Amino acid sequence: MSQPTIESILQEKRLFNPPAEFSQGARIKSLEDYEAIYQKAAADPEGFWAELAEQELDWFQKWDQVLDWQPPFAKWFVGGKINISHNCLDRHLTTWRRNKAALIWEGEPGDSRTLTYAQLHREVCQMANVIKDLGVTKGDRVAIYMPMIPEAAIAMLACARIGAPHTVVFGGFSSEALKDRLVDAQAKLVITADGGFRKDKVVPLKPAVDAALADNAAPSVENVLVVQRSKENVAMTPGRDHWWHDLQAGASYDCPAEPMDSEDMLFILYTSGTTGKPKGVVHTTGGYNLYTHVTTQWGFDLKDTDVFWCTADVGWITGHSYIVYGPLSNGATSVMYEGVPRPSNPGCFWDVIEKYGVNIFYTAPTAIRAFLKAGEHVPNARDLSSLRLLGTVGEPINPEAWMWYHLVIGGGRCPIIDTWWQTETGGFMITPLPGATPTKPGSATRPFPGILADVVDLEGNPVADNEGGYLVIKHPWPSMMRTVYGDDDRFRRTYWEHIPPQDGKYVYFAGDGARRDEDGYFWVMGRVDDVISVSGHRLGTMEIESALVSHPAVAEAAVVGRKDELKGEEVFAFVTLEGTFSPSDQLKAELKQHVVQEIGAIARPGEIRFADGLPKTRSGKIIRRFLRNLASGEALSGDASTMEDQSVLEKLREGD
Ligand code: PRX
Repeated sequence: MSQPTIESILQEKRLFNPPAEFSQGARIKSLEDYEAIYQKAAADPEGFWAELAEQELDWFQKWDQVLDWQPPFAKWFVGGKINISHNCLDRHLTTWRRNKAALIWEGEPGDSRTLTYAQLHREVCQMANVIKDLGVTKGDRVAIYMPMIPEAAIAMLACARIGAPHTVVFGGFSSEALKDRLVDAQAKLVITADGGFRKDKVVPLKPAVDAALADNAAPSVENVLVVQRSKENVAMTPGRDHWWHDLQAGASYDCPAEPMDSEDMLFILYTSGTTGKPKGVVHTTGGYNLYTHVTTQWGFDLKDTDVFWCTADVGWITGHSYIVYGPLSNGATSVMYEGVPRPSNPGCFWDVIEKYGVNIFYTAPTAIRAFLKAGEHVPNARDLSSLRLLGTVGEPINPEAWMWYHLVIGGGRCPIIDTWWQTETGGFMITPLPGATPTKPGSATRPFPGILADVVDLEGNPVADNEGGYLVIKHPWPSMMRTVYGDDDRFRRTYWEHIPPQDGKYVYFAGDGARRDEDGYFWVMGRVDDVISVSGHRLGTMEIESALVSHPAVAEAAVVGRKDELKGEEVFAFVTLEGTFSPSDQLKAELKQHVVQEIGAIARPGEIRFADGLPKTRSGKIIRRFLRNLASGEALSGDASTMEDQSVLEKLREGD
C-alpha cells in the first residue's frame, strides 16, 4: 500500500454520491442545498453566523457587534455574554436530555462508565468548586495532564464554567514538554492522574508532574489535583498535592456558570510550528462554541439518537472540539475511549462500536492504514451495522485506505467525511456535508458554509484549477485562533505575512499546500513548512533538533520527515557529533531515548544517521531538500552547486 502521491491523487476520478436514503434523512439533503447555503453565507458571513448564534446557543446577554476585524485580530459577538459549560450542560437539564447519556466511557482494562447530562453536570460543578477552593479565579490558567478518562472532560468543563482557561497537555508528552507549557501558560493549577493506561502499560503521569515541578522549575503552579486512576503508589507533596476523591467528597453540586465575555479566553492549546518552541494557540469562548456546535451538527449530520465516537485524545484539538465541546453543546452522546489499537488488540475499536452501537465514527488515516494491514477478518468478526457515517481527520487519506474504510468498515453504505482543519482553525473548514456532497477519495471536497477558502500563489493570486498553491482562508470565521499566547508578533508573522493582503484584505495562511480541481474540490497535499506529521501528530523539525542538540554528544542536528507506510511520516535525523564522541549503535539508541525524554514517544526518531557535516548553502543554511532526498533514498532534487562543501553529500550517501 502506498502513500498518496501527487500522481496517484491526480488520477483519482472516482465519485461517490451520498446514498439516497442518507440524503433523505439528512439536515442538508443535496448539493443544491449546500450551494444555496454556501452562497448565502459567502454573501454575508456575519449575518449567517449571527443567525446561527441566535438559534443554536444560549446567551446571558446578546452581543452588540457580530465581528470586529482589525487584521489580523478578530473579535466575534462583541459584548455578548456566554458560558460554554452552560451550553454543554445546564441548558440540556431542563429538557428530556437530562437523563440522556452525555459521555460513555470505555476504560482500557475493560471498565466502563456512563454519565448522563445530569450526572456530568453534578461532577463538573463539584470540580469547579474544588478548583475555586484551590485559589483559581477567573482568568487563571489551569493545566490538564490526564489520561482519557471522564475526569479529563470534567476538568475542561469545570475550568470553562468558572472562566479559568485550560491548557490540556497530551498525556504522552514528557515532563520536559509539560514543564515548557506550564511555564509558558503560567499555570496556577495542574490537574492530573496518578497514571493512565496506554498500550498495555501504565503511563506514570503524576511522577512526570513532579519532575516538571522539581527545583521550582514552574513556580506559577501552586497546587496539583490528582485523580486516582492507575492506583499506583505515588508521592504526594503535602500542601501542594490533593486527591480529587478527597476534595470531591466535601464539594457542593452547586456552581453557577460564570457569564463570560464572548471574547474571554477559553483555552490555550500548544502546537508545533516551523520555528522555536510549540506555540500556544488561543481560542476564545463564543465563536469557538458556535463553530464547533454547528460543524458537529451539520458535518456529522447529528441526530438526537446518535451515538457519536471521535477516537482522538483530548490532548489534541480534535478531542477538544469533537469529543467534548461540539457534541455536548448539541446534547449528543459522546463516546470516550481510553485505549488505542495495538498488536495485542487490533479489534478494540470495532469492539467498542459493537458494544455501544456507535452510529458516527471519526478517526485518523494512520489508524485506518494500521487496520487495513491487520486484515479484514478483524472487523468482519464484529457487528458494525450500527454505523451510518464515517469521518477522517489529521492528514491526507490515500485512496486505498479510503476505499477500505468505505467498504470494509462502512459496508459501502456510510458516507465518509474527510475533514481538513487545524488546531488554529478550531473546527473543520473543508469537508463534505454527508447528505449533500459527492465525495472523491482523497479530497476533503469543499469548504464549510461561511468559510472562504482559496488556493493562491505566494503573491496571493488564485492559481488555475489543478495547479498547486497555498491554502488560504479569506475571511475571518468564529473559531479562528485569536493569537499566539503572549506573542502577537509571532501570530502575525506565522499566519498573516507569508501572503500579502489582497485589495487590502488579509488572508490566513494555513501552511498547507493544496490544489483545487475543476469541480471546486480541494486536495490538501501536506505541509509546506518544516512541520512533519507522525501518525497524524504534528511535530516541528526544529523542536526535535533542539532536543537532540541538548544532548552532550550532539554538535548539530537536522531532522526531516521520511514517508512511512503506516505513520504517514517518520522522524529521520542527521546528526554530527562533538569531537570526543564517536558513532555507535548504542549512542543512536541513547539519542532516540533522549528525544523521548525531551518531547515524548511520538517524537522518537525512526532513524538517526551520523554525519561529518550537513549540506549547507554558502550562507550557512541547511539544505533540507537534499536531506529529505537522502532520507528516502531518492536522487537529489535540484542543483547542488550552491553548496558550500560538495564532499559533504558524498559522505552522507556513504553513511547509508
Ligand atoms: O497539514 C494539515 C493536516 O494537519 C495539519 C493540522 O494539524 P493539527 O493542528 O495537529 O490538527 C490536526 C487535526 C485537526 C494541517 O495543517 N490535516 C488535517 N486534516 C487533514 C490534513 N491534511 C489533509 N487532509 C485532512 N483532512
